[in-house]
Amino acid sequence: MITLDAIRQPVTKELEAYEAFLERQFTADGDLLNEMLHHALSSRGKGVRPLLVALSAAMNARTSGAAGGQRVSLAAMLVEMIHTASLIHDDVIDEADERRGRPSANALWQSRKAVLLGDYILARNMAIGLESGQFDLVSHICGRMATLCEGELLQDDCVSKQNMTRRTYLDIIYKKTACLLGVSASSGALAVGATRDKVTTMRRFGEALGMAFQIQDDILDYSPSAATGKPLGNDLREGKITLPLLVILDKADDKRRAYLLERLKACHNDEEAVEEMQRIVIDEGGLHEAQAVMQGYIARAVQLLSEYDDTSYRTSLVHLCSFVAERNK
Ligand code: FPP
Ligand code: MG
Repeated sequence: MITLDAIRQPVTKELEAYEAFLERQFTADGDLLNEMLHHALSSRGKGVRPLLVALSAAMNARTSGAAGGQRVSLAAMLVEMIHTASLIHDDVIDEADERRGRPSANALWQSRKAVLLGDYILARNMAIGLESGQFDLVSHICGRMATLCEGELLQDDCVSKQNMTRRTYLDIIYKKTACLLGVSASSGALAVGATRDKVTTMRRFGEALGMAFQIQDDILDYSPSAATGKPLGNDLREGKITLPLLVILDKADDKRRAYLLERLKACHNDEEAVEEMQRIVIDEGGLHEAQAVMQGYIARAVQLLSEYDDTSYRTSLVHLCSFVAERNK
């Protein structure tokens, strides 16, 4: 399988510049906030969003080297720190103790402080953005933060009502994940002055990749071979109906559907119910069907790259699509 290191290779310098920029800009006053911020920054994960910014910037730059500028570092920081803050808040909402194999902020400092850490990161992010004077980038990126909240709220409402449909599921994953990946890819193009059409193409590319990314995330929650650093079966414990279970529910008659929804409710505090639901989803082909939907989005993403010249940047973006589809973490 293609590695992220190989995908990053053409933009190593741009990513180094972004890391240095982030370290310079994201500082905090006081020991506790410093410790919390250090935890948040040192457990950031794969860095798919800054990578998308950098590759899109390089692919859309008119001259080579134009993608190493401060605007690209700024865009990468803005998207990555929105993502970081949203996961800190997400772990509070989900009462999750673990993220990427490490204790979550709420597990370490309790929810009230974790919420403030997420708020602090968002507030600093916005302040750094505004101080930079790059208002087009700040408005392009930060203007979509509300969409993430809409997605999370919609998801929460569906958990309470257990009334998930395919359309609502796709709407939720667009809002909570795909939108920010679309913003990441398009902000790279915007940062280097690409045309409006190219910025739109990159947004569509990032969104298609983002839909696939979240579906794969939902598949991995059921996959024994996953190495995400999160406990398996969490979506079931949280009462979330994601695509692998949704395809099984859609095929079930009324009696079976009622039974499955009853067992899903029990997953909250009954590990036998979790195991039973996992078995049903796997044995009845839920993962297989979800993979087929995910591959459709991957194909759309790759197709959108065909209007670009064959460069190492485009190759890396195509490889990023394969990585997202095949990843186990
Ligand atoms: C992870 O999903 C969560 C998200 C992708 C979005 C979370 C958004 C919010 C909490 C709204 C707040 C927004 C901002 C900008 C602060 P998941 O729970 O399916 O994945 P997981 O298994 O990794 O937790
Ligand atoms: Mg979660």
